[in-house]
Amino acid sequence: MFVVIFVSLHERLNEIPPSGIRRLFDLASRSHNVISLGIGEPDFDTPEHIKSYAREALDRGVTHYTPNSGLKELREAISRKLKEENSVQADPEDEIIVTTGGNQAFLLVWSSFLDHGEEVLIPSPHFVTYSATVRLAGGIPVEIPLSSEGGFRFSGEDLERYITPRTRAVVINSPNNPTGAVLSDKEIRSIVDVALSHGLLIISDEVYESLVYDDTRHVSPASINGASGSVITVNSFSKTYAMTGWRIGYAAGPAPFISKMVKFQMYLSACPTSFAQYAAALALSDPRSKQSTEAMRCEYRRRRDFIYGRLKRMPNIQVAKPGGAFYIFPSVGGDDLALSERLLTEAQVAVVPGSTFGSAGRGHLRLAYTLPIEKLEVAMDRLEKFFEDSRKGDFNHKG
Ligand SMILES: Cc1ncc(COP(=O)(O)O)c(C=O)c1O
Repeated sequence: MFVVIFVSLHERLNEIPPSGIRRLFDLASRSHNVISLGIGEPDFDTPEHIKSYAREALDRGVTHYTPNSGLKELREAISRKLKEENSVQADPEDEIIVTTGGNQAFLLVWSSFLDHGEEVLIPSPHFVTYSATVRLAGGIPVEIPLSSEGGFRFSGEDLERYITPRTRAVVINSPNNPTGAVLSDKEIRSIVDVALSHGLLIISDEVYESLVYDDTRHVSPASINGASGSVITVNSFSKTYAMTGWRIGYAAGPAPFISKMVKFQMYLSACPTSFAQYAAALALSDPRSKQSTEAMRCEYRRRRDFIYGRLKRMPNIQVAKPGGAFYIFPSVGGDDLALSERLLTEAQVAVVPGSTFGSAGRGHLRLAYTLPIEKLEVAMDRLEKFFEDSRKGDFNHKG
């Protein structure tokens, strides 16, 4: 007989550890001299024209509830954006929901289809929210471990090995947090093929889509022929427009899932902040927004080249050049938790231990290059000294 054990939400919450990133952030904020490469958010200010749209919204009295699925004008603007930039069709009436940041979308997504005990495949290392929210929704997160030797990439073949009768969905996050890896068109297609042939849903987190460097390009799984009925795309204004504090994200996908998410949002927050939604809608159709994003992208690329060049020369570090986002994920071996604490106290540089992002992150550190290059230079000087001293045997970080 199959016995279902129901676990209450508060018990599930007890089982989920607090975010390791937040803990480090708290430690770092206690010292003035620490350079933090910890928190993954743009150091740029929100472009002025977007801020002025929010002021306009306040002056025009856009200060009330919006529909649970978000402001109509914003859903329409998102629908146009998805069509023009991602070749994804989504009806603003019932296939798009505006959420309180991309982060909030995930709990809504799992709650729209996942049965108790069903598995969600999550390539690891991964953004911390996926596994926590799958568990909150009663599912089981299952890692697909990726390696630095393989560039933290995966294909349909890798996915296939982890599918069981209980697998319901797979997450794709390209460009990736924390590794910066960008999947190729071919890899995405092979993942989509395998997922569809097994009847899996694909959750595509595209919040770093605008931050792709070199000759790779971002591909939306929902744009692939025959896939749109099986893909929920999650995106956000946070990284593309330096709007993390505005808390505006969205999800697009088949109407039956979106309608459940809208129902959940009704009881969670009713809707995201009205004047932030208004500004986000206008940001999407203002050509100045693209120019701002492009200027930020070029600066991130310059920093990536700089930080990669410096890390590559340091002893005891192996590092791959990330193709996107604003993270670099060097392999340092040994205990990444102990090492990141020593880096904080002895080198005054805050980084995030790789194991925060799942078991495949062990022995790595995540560095976010969301600081001006002059500060990155000081941080790299400190790290270099730490690792040079380490090589001379003053101490051993492999502990
Ligand atoms: C991969 C990934 N997805 C989603 C998010 C959520 O971003 P927000 O809630 O600010 O939209 C983040 C934020 O760091 C992220 O790194």
